[in-house]
Amino acid sequence: MHYTIDQIRLALKKCHRLSLADLPTPLEDVPKLSEALGGPRILVKREDQTGLAFGGNKVREFEYSVAPAVSEGYDVLLHGAASQSNQSRLTAAVAAKLGLKMVMVGRKDEHSNDMNGNLFLTHLFGADVHLVESAEERSEVEKKLEADGHKVYNTSYDGYYLRSVAYVDGFIELWEQLQEQNVVPDALYVCSGVHTHVGLVVGAKALGVDLRIVGISPSPQDNAKKNMQLAEVANEVCKILSLDIHFTADDFESYGEYAGEDYGVLTRESRESVLLAARTEGLLLDPVYSGKTFAAMIEHIRKGKYTKDQTVLFVHTGGTPALFAYADELLNKTE
Ligand SMILES: Cc1ncc(COP(=O)(O)O)c(C=O)c1O
Repeated sequence: MHYTIDQIRLALKKCHRLSLADLPTPLEDVPKLSEALGGPRILVKREDQTGLAFGGNKVREFEYSVAPAVSEGYDVLLHGAASQSNQSRLTAAVAAKLGLKMVMVGRKDEHSNDMNGNLFLTHLFGADVHLVESAEERSEVEKKLEADGHKVYNTSYDGYYLRSVAYVDGFIELWEQLQEQNVVPDALYVCSGVHTHVGLVVGAKALGVDLRIVGISPSPQDNAKKNMQLAEVANEVCKILSLDIHFTADDFESYGEYAGEDYGVLTRESRESVLLAARTEGLLLDPVYSGKTFAAMIEHIRKGKYTKDQTVLFVHTGGTPALFAYADELLNKTE
């Protein structure tokens, strides 16, 4: 079943929403990049420009996913992932804005420099930062918070499906911009573990838009299994929005191999795309997410998947503060 933009907007209105992001984000042409690649027209949807604290896709996601923390009286926002996590930075910024306490329980890893990149910013927002080496240490911090009487909202797991709901909204915004500019892209590339990809695919299918949406994972994974997992999340999103649509693994196209050796490890191709975007357009990508995704798109262009008269859309999900933590690797590594 297909829906109109107004019908989907009405369905989205059923969800509580905070106002955190500068929306709509710009949709821009990057002609010098297209020229440098000798490939299709490239448009960039600037989700790195969502405004708050250097922006990124999490600001849009949190408008929906953190809303229950406010309405249900939580007093702590918690997040833990890599030490240079964008989500930790934005959890800290949002906690500051909402007057809540932020606790980061991140991983001690090779980019754990307190004075650099996202980790520095997380400190700057006043977060209580714990960098741990084991699951036991992590659960000790969490148990202590509960024992001290805090109501803890984990921005990774709580409001999980609402993060994808946010990108149904994001797809509508994008689709209206494309219609205004009279452009129908031939493919869309996005970096996503789950939520941005799922939300865009649900938005497209709900509107009846036949668009190739390519999800690039920041971690190497089993693609077939991943597509099934994405379909399950999409079906939960449809339940929340009362959309009569069903998803299977075939509705998703995703790749884990562009992540390289591991999450957070710079690849030669990601480095090349970060430098190319910076030096042709003054456009900042990041080494861990958008750089790897842009590199995947470059590889597909170089393999001749798109002709010069086609249009490819790149959704820039942000992550640029990590550039500083990877400065040495970005500038010193030999090609
Ligand atoms: C810059 C950036 N891009 C993409 C992602 C993936 O986000 P999601 O899995 O919520 O779509 C993240 C967060 O993990 C991120 O920080």
